[in-house]
Amino acid sequence: MKAGAAPLLIERLSKRFGDIEAVADVDLRIRQGEVFALLGPNGAGKTTIINCVAGLSRPTSGSIQVFGHDTVRDFRVTRRLLGLVPQEIVFDPFFTPRESLRIQMGLMGVKPDLGRVDELLRMFALWSRRDSATRSLSGGMKRRLLVAKALVHRPRLLFLDEPTAGVDVELRKDLWEVVRRLAAEGTTVILTTHYIEEAEAMADRVGIINHGRLVLVEERDSLLSRNRRGQVRAVLPVALSAPPAHLPPGTRLESENVIVAPWATARDIEEILRVVRQLGEPEEISIQQTRLEDIYVDLLKAAPDSLGRHREGESE
Ligand SMILES: Nc1ncnc2c1ncn2[C@@H]1O[C@H](COP(=O)(O)OP(=O)(O)O)[C@@H](O)[C@H]1O
Ligand SMILES: [Mg+2]
Repeated sequence: MKAGAAPLLIERLSKRFGDIEAVADVDLRIRQGEVFALLGPNGAGKTTIINCVAGLSRPTSGSIQVFGHDTVRDFRVTRRLLGLVPQEIVFDPFFTPRESLRIQMGLMGVKPDLGRVDELLRMFALWSRRDSATRSLSGGMKRRLLVAKALVHRPRLLFLDEPTAGVDVELRKDLWEVVRRLAAEGTTVILTTHYIEEAEAMADRVGIINHGRLVLVEERDSLLSRNRRGQVRAVLPVALSAPPAHLPPGTRLESENVIVAPWATARDIEEILRVVRQLGEPEEISIQQTRLEDIYVDLLKAAPDSLGRHREGESE
């Protein structure tokens, strides 16, 4: 590990599979200790980037450094600096969780450390099943075992590739908790996801990828505040035949007595409420604000077919 080097530095990375440009000219610098979410629809190139970083796939061009070490030239060094929780659940059906973790230590070339194995078994609530065959574990336990395996050698940089795809809500929250804890302990975390709420809940920074290209990299909070806008929805005591004049362009009637008006500033909201109140005291008012989802959908609008695939991927 080189002092002061970024956990990950990707420069002009491209990866082709025949005619498919899976990753196109990606530049990315990950900061020490951050949780970075790489967000994009299915097929966007997320796993390909991770595989290139982990040395499982060779870049067509460009370079990748992990803590200052080149992932192609110094493969042995870099693979020990990072941990990878793969997208697909792969497990050794005949070993117990305890054995799997021990074997993984051997594979990573670290000294057998049974204390560390037991610590991980406890940390991931696998202790009671430590000596059961892995094939008998629930899906959630298998997924937790995968995370534990990625951590046996205490990596400083952890990749989670779609950690909660196909995982129930309960376990999803558990995994978020694990990520927060690791980040609090100083591990840099990069996760890929096509769940917007996951990026919104966990990430310090968000990168949006589409068709192999990074379309945007920004602090989650600034992304949200820069794009702050929303809608005022008011249920009126009277029926209308058209949206009232003096409301912002884009105002529509959801039904004859429900007005939905877009806002961009706090002033817009005041003005909308003033005009609406002149029609009668509303029975109900709600003010909605943009979520990361709206921003994401806007960004991908330019590529309707990929958005279609994204939606497909989301319905489980
Ligand atoms: N081994 C491979 N051979 C051929 N095409 C591949 C291979 N791996 C990925 N691709 C293609 O590269 C693109 C990016 O895939 P991937 O990185 O898996 O996307 P994501 O992880 O964002 O869903 C897709 O078009 C996919 O079909
Ligand atoms: Mg993937």
